[in-house]
Order: sequence, then structure tokens, then C-alpha cells
Amino acid sequence: MRPDIRNGRLYLGGCDAVQLAGDYGTPLYVYSEEEIVGRFASLRETFLNRWENTRAAYACKAFCTPAMLKLVQREGMCIDVVSGGELHAAMQAGFPAGRIEFNGNNKLPSEIELAVDYGIGRIIVDGLQELALIEDVCRRRGRRMQVLFRVSPGVKADTHDYIVTGKKDSKFGIPLDAGSIYPCIRAAIDSEWVDFLGVHFHIGSQLFSVQPYLEAADVLLELLLETQSRFGYTMTELNIGGGFGISYTGEEEVRPYGYFLTPIMEKIQAFCAAREIPRPTVVVEPGRSIVGEAGTTLYTVGAIKDIPGVRKYISVDGGMSDNIRPALYHAAYTGLIANRADQPAVQRATVCGKCCESGDILLQDADLPAVETGDILAVFSTGAYGYSMASNYNSNPIPAVVLVRNGEHHLIVRRQTYGQILENAVIPDYLM
Ligand SMILES: Cc1ncc(COP(=O)(O)O)c(C=O)c1O
Repeated sequence: MRPDIRNGRLYLGGCDAVQLAGDYGTPLYVYSEEEIVGRFASLRETFLNRWENTRAAYACKAFCTPAMLKLVQREGMCIDVVSGGELHAAMQAGFPAGRIEFNGNNKLPSEIELAVDYGIGRIIVDGLQELALIEDVCRRRGRRMQVLFRVSPGVKADTHDYIVTGKKDSKFGIPLDAGSIYPCIRAAIDSEWVDFLGVHFHIGSQLFSVQPYLEAADVLLELLLETQSRFGYTMTELNIGGGFGISYTGEEEVRPYGYFLTPIMEKIQAFCAAREIPRPTVVVEPGRSIVGEAGTTLYTVGAIKDIPGVRKYISVDGGMSDNIRPALYHAAYTGLIANRADQPAVQRATVCGKCCESGDILLQDADLPAVETGDILAVFSTGAYGYSMASNYNSNPIPAVVLVRNGEHHLIVRRQTYGQILENAVIPDYLM
């Protein structure tokens, strides 16, 4: 997306970024509602409206606040949660229970109880141990739950190792060897307390090729057939996860949803038609691709240090506590100086955060105009896994979040205070 620059200043959702920084302080997460809604619209156009029996569940781990969940609800989507905390946020937002699905490799008994009590739509089960837990909760509550199994299809996606999830050696999913998967399926089919719908995979994140999805779909379609011949049972749902890549630096070959979803759907459709079996409902779980490019983080420039012959460091008032991704996976970003948005680059510098870690770098070797202390730096595409992975490292408060649209700005998360960071801290009497 090309930045909106007016009179030398960056605008976000029709709002002057420098003004937003002044009104709300920095660091500040700014989300464009129009961008988010646009992503849902293209998902609708290229997938949901194009193919019957399809659903999209926004993976709210990417960015989860009650206001965002309201937006997702308004757009008619489902959500994927991975913890009691995300489920609680959904409940706070009044998100319809039936449109919630619950993923995760180690759901706690208390989280399963919360899910069953709220009556969520589906639990995506990671193994026999979890199935037994769900059955136990359902038995005690006298309620049933719809379930799918998450499987590891054994395909390797081309992305950072930390965000590959579909290979066999993974903490996620059930391996597809007969001794692992069929006892699970058998148990779910036979269970008094669960309705077995089908299978789920998520092969990784920030992916640009449809190939691993097609390979994984092949594997799962064979599983569907084999389940039918072994147990005479027809699965009705196939969840192909999320993972669709976005642009961080402008150098990625970003693909529209249709690039991934059209061939996947054609494959599934053709497979089922050839065998005269009903096509299962197909579900996707995009997270990053919905909110990633919609988010921009604003910072104020502080100390500037020029190490002659080595490098210039420009420090800002946030860093790895509001965006861990560069430190975690060497993720690259681009940015610009919001109050000098039309000035040419005259220097190469490294933008670093204020945390006490040498790896706390936000922009490595960025080409920037002349920068002064007090300038406002905007870092783009920070909408996914930025706020949601934010921490209080160095006791830095979690920044505020603002939603912008058509020149309006709305606070959706207040800035944390020092007092709130210490809210749960206790000093035992003997130390007083
Ligand atoms: C099960 C599952 N679904 C969906 C997602 C969303 O992936 P992305 O944000 O890359 O679209 C993830 C991400 O970790 C996931 O684990």
C-alpha cells in the first residue's frame, strides 16, 4: 500500500499521523478500519461468495481487542481463538458463541470448561488426551461439542522455522500415521459427547506459495476417503488454516486470496466430484493477512548516536516491547518520518528501540531523511503479532491503540500506566 502523504505529512485513515501522535502520545498503534474491512471484502469476493459451504474465521491471535472483535462480528466472520483469554475477550465483545472455534496444542481444563459453558461452535482437538478432557467436561455439563482434529500433514512450508507448523516434528497437530490418527477418529466417532466434523491443518505463516497448501489438501482428502472406507463415516468439514503472506518491506511477492483459495477449492471440488462424495465445508483462518498491513506504529525519535565510520543509531521510545518480531525472527519492516514524509532520503541509519537488548532493532539500515529528536517515525505493517505479542519488558507500558477511519480516530485500547504494570505485584510482609 502506498502511504497517503499530504503537505509533507503522513496520513493514516484520513488522519494526520503527527496529530495522532500528539493527541494520544507514542508509541501508538494505529489501525485503519478501511484496510481491515477491505481485506474481509476481498475474502468475501474471492472465496466466501464464490464457493458455497465456506467460512472464514479470523485468527484473533494476530490482533485481539474487543473493538476488533466487534468489527469482525459486524463483517459477519467467525473467529479462531487459542486461549481462555482470547475467548474471554470474545465473550466481552458479545461475539456469537456458535461462530467461535478454539485451537491450541495444550488447552487447559479451565479453558475447555469456559468453551463448553459459552457453547462455542467448535474445538479443534490436538490429540486423544484433549478429546478425553473435552468429553469429561461435556459429560459433567451435560452438553455436546463439535470437534475437528488438527493434523500435521507433513509438508514443509517455505518460511521462518518459528512459524512453520505443518511438519511432522511439530508441537501442533496429530501425525498422520495410522497408529496416531485413526484411534483419534475412531474415538471421536464413537463418543457420546462430541460430534466429529473433520480435520484441520495450518502449515505455517507468511506464505507466498500455494504449493504446500495443495500438498496438504491432497493428504487430507486421502484421509477423508480412508476414514470413509475404514469407518463408513463421512467428514463434513475441512479447515485449511491461515498463513497468507503480506507485505512488510514491499519486496515480497504478495498474492491475493484468490491465488491461494481458487486452486485449493478447485482441487477439493474435483476430488469430491470424481468420487461422488459430498464436498466438505471448507474453512480458512487468516490472521496476519487481515490486520498486518492495516496497522502502523508511531514512535517519537529520541537519542541519535553517530558512530563515525560504523553506523548511526536513531533511538525511538518503543521497540521490542511493542514489536518483538525483528528480535524474534529477524523480521524486516519499512518506515518513514511522518513529519518529513516528502523529504528525500539522505542517510542510512539503524532505528533501534529503548529496551536493554542489542537485538532491539526496529529498522536495520533504513534510508531516511535528515532526522531530528522529536520527529515522529511511522513503521508500517505492524498490525499483526505486534500489539498481541507486546510485553512489559523493561517495565515499558503497553502502548495505546487507535482505530482510524475516514478522518475519524477512536481510542480502542488505553495506554497502560506504570501503576497498571504493578497492579498484581505483591510485597510479602517480611520484606516490608
Ligand atoms: C491454527 C492457526 N490458524 C491460523 C493462524 C493464523 O495464521 P496467519 O496469521 O499467518 O494467517 C495461525 C497462526 O499461528 C494458527 O496457528
